[in-house]
This record gives sequence, C-alpha cells and structure tokens, in this order.
Amino acid sequence: MYLFKNIYQLDQYLQAFRATNTRVGFVPTMGALHLGHLSLIEASNTQNELTVCSIFVNPTQFNEGSDLEKYPRTPGLDLALLAAAHCDVVFMPHVDEIYPPGVKLDSPIPPKALVQGMEGQFRPGHFEGVVQVVKRLLDIVQPSSLYMGQKDYQQAAIIGWMLDYTQLATELVVCPILREKNGLAMSSRNVRLDPAIRPKAVLLHETLLRVKEKIGTLSPRELQDWALEQLDKPHFRPEYFDIVDGLSLQPLNKIGENDFAVACTAVWAGEVRLIDNMILQKPE
Ligand code: PAJ
Repeated sequence: MYLFKNIYQLDQYLQAFRATNTRVGFVPTMGALHLGHLSLIEASNTQNELTVCSIFVNPTQFNEGSDLEKYPRTPGLDLALLAAAHCDVVFMPHVDEIYPPGVKLDSPIPPKALVQGMEGQFRPGHFEGVVQVVKRLLDIVQPSSLYMGQKDYQQAAIIGWMLDYTQLATELVVCPILREKNGLAMSSRNVRLDPAIRPKAVLLHETLLRVKEKIGTLSPRELQDWALEQLDKPHFRPEYFDIVDGLSLQPLNKIGENDFAVACTAVWAGEVRLIDNMILQKPE
C-alpha cells in the first residue's frame, strides 16, 4: 500500500495507470475508520484494478470549529485497517494541499431543494462543503468509480446530482449500510454511546423496518407521525423522520406504485446524534 501526502506525488503515481486505462475506484473518508468504511474499500476492490482511499477531515463541512477539533483522528489504526483491507493507495493530504491559500477553487453550488431539508436543516453550509471537497478530490484522483455509503443518504444523493451537473466521467456506486448484529448502523459515533443506551439504539433500525412494513396502509404523513412517536423514548429524542423521493429528496405526500421512497431519520441517543435511513420502495 502506498501513502501519499501531496497531490504531485499521487498524480505521478496515478499517471501510469491512467495511461493504460486502468479502472480506478475511489473511496473518500474522514478517517476514524470502521467496518462500514472498509465495506466500500471491498466493493471498490472487486470492481476495479486499483483502489484509492482518501483520509481528510474537511474543515469546510463543519459548522462549528469545535466539532472539527473534536472529530476523532486515528491515522495509525486507519492505515493498518486499510492495508489489511488491501487498499492500494492512501491519500492523506494536508489542508493546504486541498485548499491552497489564496487560490479560489470553483465549486458547484447544489440546489437549495437538495440541501435545505433533513441534515441540511441542522447543518447549514455542510453539503456545500461536502460538494466542494468531493469535487476537489475527484479532480485530483480522476477515478472511474466513486464509492459512497447509503448511510449518508442525502450526501450520496447530492454527490449524484454533482456528478450529473458537472458531467464528470465518474460513476457513483452507493454501497449498502453496514450494520452491527443488532441492526444499529455502523458509525464512528457509536463508541461514544452510553453503554446503557447502546443496545437500545437499534430502535432506529426497528422503526424504519416497521415503517417499511406499513407503507401500503398509511400515508407518508401518518407514517412520519407514527415513527416520531416510536422514536420518542427515554434517552431518545428524534430530530426528524422524513419520507422523501430518493432523487429529489422532496417529501412525498403519497407513495404511488412507481415512487422511489426513502425514509431518513436523525435521533439523539443520549448525547450522541445518530442518523439512519431505509429505502422503502424503489421502482424497477
Ligand atoms: P465519513 O463519515 O468518513 O464517511 C466516508 C464514507 O463511508 C461515506 O460515503 C459514508 O456514507 C460511508 N459510511 C459510513 N458509515 C457507513 C456504514 N455503516 N455502512 C456503509 N458505508 C458507511 O462522509 C464523509 O466521511 C465525508 O462527508 C466525505 C464524503 C469524505 C467528504 O468529506
């Protein structure tokens, strides 16, 4: 496994592969890796000849400086996990490599309709920062395929928009949510869950599953009300539970036969904010 910290060296290395049209898969991350991240590396490995993973805690997607400082950083462990997962190249740039001082980078601005709901409502400017960094990383790596997790549904949908909008020759592969045995979606935040609350955090997945079972019988609004009530338990406080169109991310008033319906939720479990989602219906 090769580790590059600057664009020049990474580019020199990748040029030989580009010259031979090698399929390159790219997995952008912010480190603090867990099995969910590694499932993206595995997916890329099976579909590409070369897998590049970036570890970069992107300052422009954090709303508060304190969150950025508090973000877990475990570079030694991350590199060991990536090597064990047979990742070929790791790109770990310094912030000045990605955002050179004094250089204005042009970055597509996602439409309000995509960024203002759900996560965007609670994290103004977050998705603009995500689009900015992913575009910058794609320009550097120029991969054939980009691997992202369904875990961050809104993020993956917005990056899908960005790829269409910029007409970059990169295909987006959205990988399924890796879950712990009890159904809790894997996240670097799970270790911060209070040990008494952690086993109960399966509540999010259970609620999503039950909503999926009920889609023929209740309207999206009724399902939302039902889910919010389920999620309002001791130590748990739901922030939102929305049923949206899988591409436009706009709330659905009804779920017709050909609708692409996704339920997305954010819930406080003690001091930790968890997100989860489920595709309720996807037309063929
Ligand atoms: P990060 O939170 O490190 O996540 C990197 C990728 O791992 C994302 O695509 C995320 O959806 C995926 N992921 C996280 N948990 C997962 C799980 N349980 N199962 C499957 N995939 C999972 O998301 C970011 O970083 C950043 O916003 C980034 C895209 C790197 C831009 O800075």
